[in-house]
Amino acid sequence: MSLNTARLDRFISEHCKVSRRDVRLMLAKKRICVDGCIVDDIGLRIDRFAKITLDGDILQENKAIYIMLHKPIGVVSATVDKQHKTVIDLLEEQNLLVNQALAEKGNLHIVGRLDLNTSGLLLLTNDSRWSERLTSPEHKVEKCYQVRLQNPLTEDYAQAFANGMYFEFENITTKPAVFKVIANQTNEQGNRYIAEVKLIEGRYHQIKRMFGRFRNPVIGLHRKSIGSLLLDEQLIAGQSRLLTDDEVLGIFQKDMLTDKPTD
Ligand code: URA
Repeated sequence: MSLNTARLDRFISEHCKVSRRDVRLMLAKKRICVDGCIVDDIGLRIDRFAKITLDGDILQENKAIYIMLHKPIGVVSATVDKQHKTVIDLLEEQNLLVNQALAEKGNLHIVGRLDLNTSGLLLLTNDSRWSERLTSPEHKVEKCYQVRLQNPLTEDYAQAFANGMYFEFENITTKPAVFKVIANQTNEQGNRYIAEVKLIEGRYHQIKRMFGRFRNPVIGLHRKSIGSLLLDEQLIAGQSRLLTDDEVLGIFQKDMLTDKPTD
């Protein structure tokens, strides 16, 4: 599932240093397989995850990698950073980047960053088509956050989040978001002002800026899910694992805002 595709005949011609005419003959003689099937279409487009063989010898075999990380606070959502530990450092500490994953390390990218002081579900992949689909507003993949606030929550939040807020710097109005109160109490144990917010986009510091409109500072932010994929409860902060095939495909299944805003 890579965004960049190439013509099969061009790939073979460059890879094997033969003319396009020779490639046509190879195809006609049924010597070339793509993903296990003999092909004869010279115009066929292939991506970097297509397995290509010539007479059974592998010409290309790249594995798509999908990783779920429980990002802790204090680790930066970047692949390299001079100052802070990065999410790639975490994967390496855990030895998750072994064999094929290690070979693909340079192609890994983060799908929707989290701020330094935000924790929760972070995805990494080398598959740009998958990540584009997850992050493009057009696909409306919902991200769910748990937010701890400094001050009590009032009734006007839900409507304001649903209406969208105008961000002058980018000159955009945020897409409808779902706001739900989880706790709004003060007792002997202290204050607990907790909300759940569902977004279908990821503007810079979006949640902090939205609560900023109410002069209510965010004191804790945690991403619980992306689409249908929940952060695995078995993963403690800093730990990661590969996604299963079902998770990779299933993540898009719940790709609309599901809850109506609370009144
Ligand atoms: N909104 C924020 O303000 N920060 C994040 O990390 C994610 C969403």
